[in-house]
Amino acid sequence: MKGIRGATTVGADTPEEIRKAVKELLDETVRKNNLKEEEIVCILFSNTSDIRSLYPAKAAREAGYSHTALYSSLEPEMDGALPLCIRVLLLAECERAEHVYLRGAKGLRKDLKKFAVALDGPSGSGKSTIAKLLAKAHNILYLDTGAMYRACALKALREGIGQVTEEKVKPLMDGLDLRIEYKGGTQHTVLDGEDVSEAIRRPEVSMAASDISALRCVREKMVEMQRRIAGEQSCVLDGRDIGSFVLPDAEFKFYVTAKSSVRAKRRYDELRAKGFAVDLAALQKEIEQRDKNDSTREFSPLCKAADAVEVDTSDMTIDEVLAFIENKIQERV
Ligand code: DC
Repeated sequence: MKGIRGATTVGADTPEEIRKAVKELLDETVRKNNLKEEEIVCILFSNTSDIRSLYPAKAAREAGYSHTALYSSLEPEMDGALPLCIRVLLLAECERAEHVYLRGAKGLRKDLKKFAVALDGPSGSGKSTIAKLLAKAHNILYLDTGAMYRACALKALREGIGQVTEEKVKPLMDGLDLRIEYKGGTQHTVLDGEDVSEAIRRPEVSMAASDISALRCVREKMVEMQRRIAGEQSCVLDGRDIGSFVLPDAEFKFYVTAKSSVRAKRRYDELRAKGFAVDLAALQKEIEQRDKNDSTREFSPLCKAADAVEVDTSDMTIDEVLAFIENKIQERV
């Protein structure tokens, strides 16, 4: 069982304001923690003494939280206390607790600030699957930075640029129209107004992305976009240089890796499922070539940040990797 904490404030001591604030606080707590009705054991409220027109517990019952035990109490008057404040402690049968602080109560929890999780590693290590699940569990954004380099590669392929060089690619970067959009929580990569999320997954784009991502003009542009997106909200980013270069101050850093044979098999299964005819041995060779490219390039290569936790996923299931990473995160919050 976990204790999920939260607080909010009301604009005025009126029943309507209290109903609205309590419903918003509980609904958000349930949503953020993915709770089912039967998992809520009880909900305990306390409120500052300037709130008198309605008990938060009664507001909760009116809002439909009638299946669980509810309790309200009054807080003593304290100098400097946040006025018109309602606090909640919700006990629930769940694995982890996401606390929820809304409206004026946001400032009460300085520790619940924005954070970033950096997941770096070679291709096929499982980092994107883990990143997606992690972002969902924490209800934060997932940014697939590889998709951005893939979009640059697709642009160059479409422009008929063969061997990529700074001179040939710089003008493309200067005029690049690349947007990262989210629909229903899923990342969409939009190039020149076209959704290329599928097109960038084609096998020929993978090697081209590795090549183009070695160019300084490309990395500078992409890193600037990545830092801007990560600066606006909490997020999980996966890539090659997130912990070492893009966000050196990321709160949580992991280096996710696996044997190249395992990674090749994973990519093979993935591509086969999408209907691509691929050869396992050729794929392993290409993956090893990409590893070499990505880790030996001069500017911001694939590397484990000194303070990143390494996870070798060769013999682990996704659930095991996720549990390991989640534990490491919880140890530090
Ligand atoms: O993760 P991916 O396979 O979609 O990435 C495609 C290529 O992009 C990869 O070979 C190297 C490059 N890349 C990078 O250089 N830096 C990142 N942060 C992400 C990807």
